[in-house]
Amino acid sequence: MPVEEIRRSSTAQRKRVSVHSHVRGLGVAADAGELFPGGGAASGGGRREAPACGLVGQEGARAAAALLVDLIRSKKMAGRAVLLSGPPCTGKTAIALAVALELGRRVPFCPMQASEVYSSEVKKTEVLTEHFRRAIGLRIKEVKEVYEGEVTELAAEESALPDAASGYARSIARIVVTLRTTKGTKTLRLDPSIHEAIMRERVECGDVIYMEAVSGAVKRVGRCDAYATEYDLEADEYVPLPKGDVRKRREVVQDVTLHDLDAANARPLQTSSQDTDVLALVNQLGRPRKTEITDKLRDEVNKAVEKYIEQGVAEVVPGVLFIDEVHMLDMECFAFLNRALESNLAPIVIFSTNRGVCRVRGTDMSSPHGIPMDLLDRCLIIRTVPYTLEQTRQILWLRTQAERVTLEAAREGGDEAAADDADALQMLAVLAQRTSLRYACNLLAPAAMLARAAGRDTVGSGDVREANALFLDARASAQRVTEQAQGYIA
Ligand SMILES: Nc1ncnc2c1ncn2[C@@H]1O[C@H](COP(=O)(O)OP(=O)(O)OP(=O)(O)O)[C@@H](O)[C@H]1O
Ligand SMILES: [Mg+2]
Repeated sequence: MPVEEIRRSSTAQRKRVSVHSHVRGLGVAADAGELFPGGGAASGGGRREAPACGLVGQEGARAAAALLVDLIRSKKMAGRAVLLSGPPCTGKTAIALAVALELGRRVPFCPMQASEVYSSEVKKTEVLTEHFRRAIGLRIKEVKEVYEGEVTELAAEESALPDAASGYARSIARIVVTLRTTKGTKTLRLDPSIHEAIMRERVECGDVIYMEAVSGAVKRVGRCDAYATEYDLEADEYVPLPKGDVRKRREVVQDVTLHDLDAANARPLQTSSQDTDVLALVNQLGRPRKTEITDKLRDEVNKAVEKYIEQGVAEVVPGVLFIDEVHMLDMECFAFLNRALESNLAPIVIFSTNRGVCRVRGTDMSSPHGIPMDLLDRCLIIRTVPYTLEQTRQILWLRTQAERVTLEAAREGGDEAAADDADALQMLAVLAQRTSLRYACNLLAPAAMLARAAGRDTVGSGDVREANALFLDARASAQRVTEQAQGYIA
């Protein structure tokens, strides 16, 4: 029995400790458009008041971004462009990431670096088209025969005789699953091929699952709420015990992107998608792939999709395409974007740049942000502003949490402005103001290493000073090369 299901949407992101891993959301209350208190400067350090959402200050940009999230959710923004503009290190990328987190998993968010378009193998417009299509979601609803309930028994029965093929191990002969609903229980004997799907979904007794009767695809819905504890913070999602019979017809919702469908259907032996149903179109996802995605194929997918939208089976979910460092795009790309934004299947596009007036790539013309005026004219512009010392301090504190670096506690009565006998955090903040926030963040790990080498668990101001002496920040390095120009090869 084949198990066909969508494993991972093409926009799914991997998690690791990265420069933005302290960011959890925009931290703007949905109804009032009000910012949560970000911790005051009056508290003498503000290190413990750093907001839970992970973003500090930048109120204007965050409020605008929150409004944007509301507009995207209500599908009023498709085909529009937004530009995040501001000096380097003012949280443009961080805010875009927070927008993605606020939108949740059901709305596609596709981040890209503008420089990704410069590939020697793929056309620039092709790269952009692909990313555009990654940012448009489709929610497909179908009514299917399923078995649904809380798992009360889950056992694998081994075959009585050793497996003839391997000679040693016993193979799994069948899976026995007992499902419970409000109306009763049912024990199912299932083909071993389902075992893998059950393992992959990490199904345990007490979970609510459903299995598609035709394909055997297994989906874990959540943990049965009979097991819910009283803790506020829970990793698991609790769902009520399903009502009705174990076997029933149920609406199954799948979220895919247009690119998923393109990729899944780009195979040599492609039968015309006219004669396949929506299920077949989606089910291609599990198959090995692929040849090239051509425009013809995209047209066919579009046609099929439009048909399903008309029939009410599928619904378009315009997502977000985030293009970082947009000044790296050239005139051809900008011309393409102008047109692409006007198509009827367009996502919202968020650009970000830290450039002032500069040359538009591929032309001799200069323009604000390195973006041609006609495209700039379509954008709503959100600006970010530099941080104060206190805000810098809070951001650095958040970074120490994310990187698990413990800083030495502040000494009582330390002079805030004097970097010399300040605590490590204050010293880093002052350094960040003088050089850049990124440089100060980058010093955290070396300083922690130096402290460890000296046999300490906490990082003191001495370690920060030592790390700072070992490395140069961008500005210091630039100054050095200008001062000692004759020593370098020009
Ligand atoms: N308001 C903020 N709250 C918390 N962390 C922030 C904030 N702003 C920036 N940061 C952090 O500071 C670092 C630099 O910010 P980010 O990369 O977002 O800057 P940027 O504006 O995109 O800069 P660039 O123009 O150079 O791309 C990141 O680690 C980011 O997570
Ligand atoms: Mg950035």
